[in-house]
Amino acid sequence: MVSAMTAPKADNITWHTGEVDRDTRASAHGHRGAVLWFTGLSGSGKSTIAHRVESMLVDRGVFAYVLDGDNIRHGLNSDLGFSPEEREENIRRIGEVARLFADSGAVVLTAFISPYRRDRERVRALLGQGEFVEVFVDTPLEICEARDPKGLYKKARAGEISNFTGINAPYEAPRSPEVHLETADLGVDEAAAKVVRYLATHDILGDP
Ligand code: ADX
Repeated sequence: MVSAMTAPKADNITWHTGEVDRDTRASAHGHRGAVLWFTGLSGSGKSTIAHRVESMLVDRGVFAYVLDGDNIRHGLNSDLGFSPEEREENIRRIGEVARLFADSGAVVLTAFISPYRRDRERVRALLGQGEFVEVFVDTPLEICEARDPKGLYKKARAGEISNFTGINAPYEAPRSPEVHLETADLGVDEAAAKVVRYLATHDILGDP
């Protein structure tokens, strides 16, 4: 059911390289492609901050687009649940989609719990130097649980949801994320501005 991260199953397939290279795309868009990989607990604010960053980027004329956890699980990944293997496959597919977006020249923002360090590092390895920006949305479990926007922590505590991240499934925090957002001290706008500043100072965005 869940596919492995191995060589293609199909024989007789050839990689086709197009005529437009990355530099040409970057000059057409006015910025490089990149993946902003938001990770954090459910209810940490990943989606909210990612959408605010997206909006700030689009205002600057950047080709930016959010891939959002719950939405992707309604479509592309509707066959996956929350076991460690299914989360691995979830992140693998998203990583591949994000890579395609970045290759097209977009700044793609992903908002998935992505609790396993190894899965995130595999996505990083798919991308070029500087193209993978890990954004740790560091919101303590107590705050996420107090917010509980979807009532899921309550259900997990009541034993109605198994494998719930932070309650009965692990979350492996990034060790050295490119951007660390300690949201207890940052509002959404400040957090989003910090991400945009990172992009502006790391050669991803052009001049405003
Ligand atoms: S991930 O772990 O595979 O990266 P993903 O970000 O796609 O997770 O989905 C997380 C969202 O699914 C949560 O925000 C929450 O709304 C919902 N959800 C439902 N069941 C679980 C669960 N067992 N653990 C975590 N999130 C869950």
